[in-house]
Amino acid sequence: MDQRAIGIFDSGVGGLTTVKVLRRLLPNERIIYFGDTGRVPYGTRGREIIRQYAMQDIAFLKRHEVKMIVIACGTVSSCMTPQMQDSIGLPYSGVVLPAAQAACATTSSGRIGIIGTTATVRSAAYSRAIRNILPHARTFGNACPLFVPLVENGFIQPDNQVTELVARQYLAPILEADVDTLIMGCTHYPLIAPILQKIMGPDVTLVDVGEQVARWAQSYLTSNDMLRQGEGGCEFFVSDSPENFIETAGLFLGGDITGEVQQISVDSISPSAI
Ligand code: DGL
Repeated sequence: MDQRAIGIFDSGVGGLTTVKVLRRLLPNERIIYFGDTGRVPYGTRGREIIRQYAMQDIAFLKRHEVKMIVIACGTVSSCMTPQMQDSIGLPYSGVVLPAAQAACATTSSGRIGIIGTTATVRSAAYSRAIRNILPHARTFGNACPLFVPLVENGFIQPDNQVTELVARQYLAPILEADVDTLIMGCTHYPLIAPILQKIMGPDVTLVDVGEQVARWAQSYLTSNDMLRQGEGGCEFFVSDSPENFIETAGLFLGGDITGEVQQISVDSISPSAI
């Protein structure tokens, strides 16, 4: 048994899709969520800046004596170096490996599509992880930089014409590649999954990367006897105004936010503090 909280972060609100699954799978856990809403998006930035931000985010969560770090951001997960991973000093996972395992378990044809932010697709992290598991697999990636602003601005209704038009363009090369599995490589994308599914067709399985990392956390805590007992709950920290976060968060959590939301300054945290 381990009563400490799970620390989880994303560049903004996207990681709340992981919180939603975690709360369902592990209702007794305490969750400390940090959304770097003052610096979102990460996915259009260069790798070094993304890494510096990630180190600050992790250092912030470690101040809260968490027992585990969940990186609920496809962009950060794709840009982590082995040195950064070694320096965390706690059990942790990003979304890439759990999602790659799920995609490899799902695919029959070995043809897997990957969509994500520009930094994620450029890193080729999902493709590498997939080929380590299934060497004969073929991957087809496309960056979808407009999805995050569309989702953050609430363009998520299944019949939203703007998002569908954009999605049709982004998904065209992946449709052409005749994949049977599509990794939604960014934690914002489950909000527009019905649109993506409509375009890809019912025979293509969508992999929700945030859900996969939540399942990893459940399995890790269970097998290492680190589950918490008692009532669970969430505390939220953001680097921009809590009001904006609270407004959007309901869309991601599938209900009104419960728990306190505090604004903090992450800029002042030294990236070497982890
Ligand atoms: N939620 C982040 C991810 O999973 C994307 C948002 C961003 O670009 O910062 O990649």
